Amino acid sequence: MTDNSSSGQDGGKQQLIQGLQEDLAREYKAVIQYVIFSQKLDKAQYMDIAEELEKHAHQELDHALAISRQLDYFGEYPVHEPKPVQVSEKNEDMLWFDLQAEDETVKNYRQRIQQAESLGEFALAEVLQEIIRQEQDHQIDLATALGVTADPEQRQGKGPSVSKT
Ligand SMILES: [Fe+2]
Ligand SMILES: [Fe+2]
Repeated sequence: MTDNSSSGQDGGKQQLIQGLQEDLAREYKAVIQYVIFSQKLDKAQYMDIAEELEKHAHQELDHALAISRQLDYFGEYPVHEPKPVQVSEKNEDMLWFDLQAEDETVKNYRQRIQQAESLGEFALAEVLQEIIRQEQDHQIDLATALGVTADPEQRQGKGPSVSKT
C-alpha cells in the first residue's frame, strides 16, 4: 500500500493550483501576442492567418477566464502577470513565437489534465480537455501557415530566424 497521507494529497493539490496559475500567465501572454500579431502581420500570404489570430485572441481570453474561475473555485487569487511576451516585426518570427508558445501550452495542459484526474478533479479535467482541443487547433493553424508539422516532435531543428530572448 502506498502512503495516502493527507499531506501527500495536499501537496498534489498545491502543485495543481501552482500549475493553473502558470497556465493563466501563459494565457495572458497568448492574448497579448495574438492582439499584436493579428494586426502586425502584413505579408499578403498571411492575411488569412491574421484573421485566424484575431479569433485565437478571443479564445485565449476565454481560456484565461475559465482558468481564473477554477482558481477561484479552489479559493485562490488568480495571478496578474503574463509570462514574458515575445515580439518581432518579421512575419515569420511572429508566427513562430505563437507556435512555440502553443507547443509549451499544450505540453503543460497535458500535464495539468493528468494532475487533475489523479486528484479526482474530473470537472476541471473536462474544462482543460476542451481548452487543449482549441490549443491544438491553434497549433495546426500556425503550423499550416508556416508550412511545418503541427506536432513539435516532428519538426525538430526548425524555428524562428532570430535568437530567442
Ligand atoms: Fe489558451
Ligand atoms: Fe492557443
